[in-house]
Amino acid sequence: MTRTDPLETALERGFAQIIGPRTPPRLVAAMHHALFPGGARFRPRLLLAVAGAAGAPSADAEAAAVAVELVHCASLVHDDLPCFDNASIRRGRMSVHAKFGESLAVLVGDGLIVAAFDVLARATVACPTLASAIGLLAAAVGANGGLVAGQAWEDEPSADVYRYHQAKTGALFEAATSIGAVVAGAEVTEWRAVGTALGEAYQLADDLGDLVGTPTDLGKPVGQDLIHARPNAAIELGLERAFARLESAVTRAADLVPACPGDEGFRDWLLSSCARVFPTRAQVRQDPLRDRAPLSA
Ligand code: FPP
Ligand code: MG
Repeated sequence: MTRTDPLETALERGFAQIIGPRTPPRLVAAMHHALFPGGARFRPRLLLAVAGAAGAPSADAEAAAVAVELVHCASLVHDDLPCFDNASIRRGRMSVHAKFGESLAVLVGDGLIVAAFDVLARATVACPTLASAIGLLAAAVGANGGLVAGQAWEDEPSADVYRYHQAKTGALFEAATSIGAVVAGAEVTEWRAVGTALGEAYQLADDLGDLVGTPTDLGKPVGQDLIHARPNAAIELGLERAFARLESAVTRAADLVPACPGDEGFRDWLLSSCARVFPTRAQVRQDPLRDRAPLSA
């Protein structure tokens, strides 16, 4: 018998909470398509791992983990839209707008963002400390350095790649570690720094994946950053230095883990999760940048 993943069960429960008899059926189907089956679920697992390591009961952290994943899935639905990446494949199958149409995909994203805050707000009844998670998540999504700001850098005439990545990716990783710490009553600043380093690692891995990954392995189009002339750290640095920076960001994240009851277990989880999902030099068949000089030092 296969054991059900508690995070998937919590996400199914969260989904049941955010739809109802007044939700139009195609919206229900499109929202479900956006959430299930998921990807690595890295951000909510990170939140749960921080909360567990710092000593929080898993039931208290669950709603926050669901909220973070709802926001993440919303951002992918919007990111795939024709006005942004125009990607018809996500997680190895049709993206939401490709399957259900653009107008419904916009509404799916809208609905999932609101749902994330609904799930969090409801959970404050059983776990009052989650009240401060609402502000932390809002900051990670918002216009002042959150996901919205990150995406909006693509509409500026020029953007600093690290500032762009910090907002587009780092902010939600920081929210995941910070909220995990809040639920456990632990020091937020130290755990936020772990999220910053992991967000940097994750974006480097994503940029490397876009350059050297395959659509089959990643379940999404690759080579998009070169095609659309989008900021990509691996293009700026060259493959070798991007891999070196990825490894050092993962090591930094592990080194920054504060002393707590489950610090060793957390470090093991972090290193094995990164090794499982991040690209490696061994996977590179050919360097697409071999004839180009690195763009920056
Ligand atoms: C994926 O990056 C996209 C993001 C991390 C953020 C996208 C943000 C928005 C569309 C702003 C709206 C925000 C919300 C919350 C709806 P990528 O394109 O580098 O990665 P990919 O290869 O997986 O598409
Ligand atoms: Mg994209």
